[in-house]
Amino acid sequence: MTKLFQIADLHFGTEDRHLVDAFVDLCNASRPDAVIAAGDFTQSGRKSEFDAAARFLGRLDPPVVGIPGNHDVPSRALHRRFTTPWRRYERSVGRHMASSLEDGALHIEGLRTARRAQWQPDWSLGRIGRPSLGRALDLLAERDADLRVLTCHHPILAPGGNRGRARTARAGTSVTTIAEHCDLVLTGHLHETFALPAEGPSHTCWFVGAGTTFSRRTRGEPAGVNVLDISADTIRVTHHVADEDRPAFIVRDSRVLPRREGQY
Ligand SMILES: [Fe+2]
Repeated sequence: MTKLFQIADLHFGTEDRHLVDAFVDLCNASRPDAVIAAGDFTQSGRKSEFDAAARFLGRLDPPVVGIPGNHDVPSRALHRRFTTPWRRYERSVGRHMASSLEDGALHIEGLRTARRAQWQPDWSLGRIGRPSLGRALDLLAERDADLRVLTCHHPILAPGGNRGRARTARAGTSVTTIAEHCDLVLTGHLHETFALPAEGPSHTCWFVGAGTTFSRRTRGEPAGVNVLDISADTIRVTHHVADEDRPAFIVRDSRVLPRREGQY
């Protein structure tokens, strides 16, 4: 059994500090095999926000795999955004986590979908780069671990389809290839928890979105974290949310997802 914590959209700068403490306690007590942080560590890409995010990561006992989100490039200092977009990220949170992990039966690869700038007006949207996706999938295929996980910030399959709030460029045309090579795809950005399947050749690949973990930027659902318990046959997703009355996480619901069609 493998246990993963899926967190996203931490948005340091707008975090609830008491909930940050509650998360650290829950995570370290649960001893997951890895924490997967699906981007947007900061609100505006400020140094002070990255420093706070780095201090948070330094308190976690399990290994952390993470990739940046669209909020992790400086939003005000435009010269930095264009010349050294990821420097603050690499020098702060980047030192406390890896962009991939291979550990026994578990293989996680990170994919960057956030961009410093784009040829369209909404720079918050994600884009899948063909070469970087190809590299990540090649690595996953090469090792062929029992549990192959891809993580990126922007959703690839999302509720409402790719014409809703997600609109990640090349997502629609990438789903089949990704489902062939992955068992799980963990994303953030929408601040919405969901699980959607796509069939691979002999397995079901689940695309799972997480809400914001402990920021005040909630959109229609409370802050929370996904805890995934994965066996050979199933993935149990337990959605913990912030309690309304005290800084603590409580279980809101738990879903069992089959890893093969018609299996459950
Ligand atoms: Fe985002």
